[in-house]
Amino acid sequence: MIVFGLEGTAWNLSAALVDERGVLYEKSATYVPAKGGIHPREAAQHHAEHMAKVVGDVLAHSRESGLRPDAIAFSQGPGLGPCLRTVATAARVLSQRFSVPLLGVNHCVAHIEVGKWQSGARDPAVIYVSGANSQVLALRQGRYRIFGETLDISIGNAIDKFARSVGLSHPGGPKVEELALKANRYIPLPYTVKGMDLSFSGLSTAATEAAKKHDLADVCYSLQETAFAMLVEVTERAMAHAEKKETMLVGGVGANKRLGEMLNTMCLERGARFYLPPRKFMGDNGSMIAYTGLLMHKSGRQTPIEESGVRPNYRTDDVAVTWA
Ligand code: ATP
Ligand code: FE2
Repeated sequence: MIVFGLEGTAWNLSAALVDERGVLYEKSATYVPAKGGIHPREAAQHHAEHMAKVVGDVLAHSRESGLRPDAIAFSQGPGLGPCLRTVATAARVLSQRFSVPLLGVNHCVAHIEVGKWQSGARDPAVIYVSGANSQVLALRQGRYRIFGETLDISIGNAIDKFARSVGLSHPGGPKVEELALKANRYIPLPYTVKGMDLSFSGLSTAATEAAKKHDLADVCYSLQETAFAMLVEVTERAMAHAEKKETMLVGGVGANKRLGEMLNTMCLERGARFYLPPRKFMGDNGSMIAYTGLLMHKSGRQTPIEESGVRPNYRTDDVAVTWA
């Protein structure tokens, strides 16, 4: 079975062709805001402008290789409304043109499924951290249940906001990670875990304030150490509650080496195993949508046109995991 997947919930427009064994082809176009953070309409404009090239490139490859898609998968949500609509429109057209089923994929579930596929994790507690999401989840009774999540902004957004406030360009995550390596000391910042939930907004603001008085590298380091310790604490408790012997890290912030190292240490201490998918599957990509679409299609699912409307607030635990 071959599935064509289209991702475009936020900053990355990406199309891919996958089969059960791996990624056959992928093509992406990245939106980089001129200044500040992601602007939803500008991002959608970017996706619309690059759609023909990105999709056309993957289709040309599929023609040349004699690979015909059996289904068209697209990121139905969550994400930025204007971006989602651009992607859904293109996906509907492709489904009709090839006369193959359409599959509306939950973007968060796709981060998890591609992670399992590429890392070999079987039944992990999942820590999903990105620009819009910070959740700790585990599969229970046919759904990825959310054990803990942020009560305000996501960790990626908290880091990006702080980074912008000190003059670093978007996305700030990789720049903060690099600066943190040059730090000499830890500056105390607010650590906020409430039950199983997290809060990053106050931490981000406190880091911005701290940067007015302290060395920037020290603040970057302290921000990471504080935020990541919060995430590790909640992940560890979710593993215990859900009785999982594995932890897997996914989402754009998962590219951060320090976060992976801290989670790995926690797992070693508990006699559990830590799984980290390859970096190129961490950020948003078309392959994750295509692969999740493949799992859905194999389990007999499809999305009729009348149910293919975008879902900007699509929750991870809304999805019945019929393929596990
Ligand atoms: P979602 O819709 O899943 O929230 P997204 O649109 O935010 O996805 P992702 O690619 O999953 O996109 O995540 C982007 C985030 O990852 C940005 O906030 C970026 O700063 C962060 N990021 C990328 N690399 C690193 C890194 N090395 N360290 C920390 N954060 C990083
Ligand atoms: Fe994402």
